[in-house]
Amino acid sequence: MLTPAICRMKLYAPRLAASANPGQFLIVRADEKGERIPLTISDYNAEEGSVTIVTQSIGASSLDIVSFEAGEGFSDVAGPLGLASDFVKMPLEQLRKQRYVFIAGGVGTAPVYPQAKWLHSRGVAVDVIIGAKTKDLLIYREEMSEVCDNVFVCTDDGSEGFHGMVTALLEKLVSDGRQYTHAVAIGPMIMMKFTTLTCRKLGLPVTVSLNTLMVDGTGMCGACRVTVGGKTRFACVEGPEFNGYDVDFDEAMRRQGQYRAEEAQALENHKCKIGRGK
Ligand code: NAD
Ligand code: FES
Repeated sequence: MLTPAICRMKLYAPRLAASANPGQFLIVRADEKGERIPLTISDYNAEEGSVTIVTQSIGASSLDIVSFEAGEGFSDVAGPLGLASDFVKMPLEQLRKQRYVFIAGGVGTAPVYPQAKWLHSRGVAVDVIIGAKTKDLLIYREEMSEVCDNVFVCTDDGSEGFHGMVTALLEKLVSDGRQYTHAVAIGPMIMMKFTTLTCRKLGLPVTVSLNTLMVDGTGMCGACRVTVGGKTRFACVEGPEFNGYDVDFDEAMRRQGQYRAEEAQALENHKCKIGRGK
């Protein structure tokens, strides 16, 4: 457990580990009747045959996952899904001229790790800003310091690091003279929206990773559709990463919240089931 509600799990999945790239995700099901949950890959190790995922127990299905014991297994895991981050295809010479800043919010900090690690291991300059509501919810600080040039921390309540949100810290770093050529924001949709607005103000290109609702993850159902650059795009096969400037975040947030009542009901039913000893 990284916090009382955030769990890190290493899955033994050699074929996934051998083909995963930064930016990609998995869809897991705890059991045969379980909801299909998309989770961004938080690390992978081909030699060990492992893939790491980080999940927060907020709904009925994620509660099931977090209560797994070591040695138990998912009913199924599909992946690696989605496209790898754009930088994976960039010529190394060009990449080494870049200076990346990652803006990581809450649980979204974990999927930043494999991206920063990939870039750092190829000699690319990487800074990261990690934001959380309070210091007890900050995750991946040590891991990140091993794969980044600088790690900057902020909390909404000021209990650790800069007092304020990731957007305010990004503006401060740039006004203090730090220069970046590209930003990548991963976290809650609202954070990615406001980070994009800040980046626009700073003239900084920004990539965002969209955690939309997903069902099949293969471009068949349309559950993950988002409007990007005025066109409908499927986050599962054409994303999950997009140019932040082009994303219609307000629509994406409305779609993300459309099953909130059903999710709350499922959570209530789940708690009753646990209360009755399943
Ligand atoms: P949170 O609400 O605690 O927010 C984390 C940080 O984001 C805050 O500390 C703040 O610095 C920043 N932030 C939040 N609202 C902001 C705003 N309006 N303007 C500027 N900055 C703002 O995060 P949480 O409770 O850990 O929520 C995690 C969310 O991240 C979930 O919704 C989850 O679905 C999402 N997530 C996304 C991905 C992805 O790939 N995009 C991956 C994992 C989790
Ligand atoms: Fe079904 Fe993307 S999740 S099309």
